Amino acid sequence: MDISFRRATAADAPDVATVYISSRRAAAEWLPTVGTDDEIRAFVIHQMVPERETWIAEDNGRVVALLTLHGDDLDQFYVAPDNQRRGIGDAMLAHAKRLRPAGLHLWAFQRNTPARRFYEARGFVAKKFTDGATNMEREADVLYEWTP
Ligand SMILES: CC(C)(COP(=O)(O)OP(=O)(O)OC[C@H]1O[C@@H](n2cnc3c(N)ncnc32)[C@H](O)[C@@H]1OP(=O)(O)O)[C@@H](O)C(=O)NCCC(=O)NCCS
Repeated sequence: MDISFRRATAADAPDVATVYISSRRAAAEWLPTVGTDDEIRAFVIHQMVPERETWIAEDNGRVVALLTLHGDDLDQFYVAPDNQRRGIGDAMLAHAKRLRPAGLHLWAFQRNTPARRFYEARGFVAKKFTDGATNMEREADVLYEWTP
């Protein structure tokens, strides 16, 4: 495995969108989605990549994961389905911690058990549970915090 991390450029945005959509679709059971694939693709290409601090993981030049940071929030985090459980998420989360050494926050859906287990094994602590009334998906979620 030869994984490297760099900031996404406009030229990467279509590949970033493909990873985002495929990862989300594969996790559909615990990641409810608002919007069609075309709407998500437009969001990634025209808003997320240009406006957010978007990082990608590449394996031999292929985009295999993405992560966005906004202040100390880890907003988006997706590994391509065929590249999960290879340690890429772990390496990318470690990269995010190096970028934000003072600490990180993130929201996860309560029923996203695999992601919650992943975060909790890497030092994230649940701080607040909501019924989802204020998120787009209207899905109960949990705020996690990591401090070094
Ligand atoms: C959650 C997510 C980002 C983790 O990324 P990942 O690349 O699969 O993470 P890793 O491979 O580093 O670790 C995942 C698990 O596989 C295990 N693993 C790592 N390498 C492995 C290997 N070679 N063989 C078997 N298992 C392995 C890890 O120990 C880890 O187990 P744990 O969750 O019990 O700690 C990814 O699964 C994902 O994109 N999920 C869908 C989207 C999502 O839910 N995003 C988070 C929204 S809040």
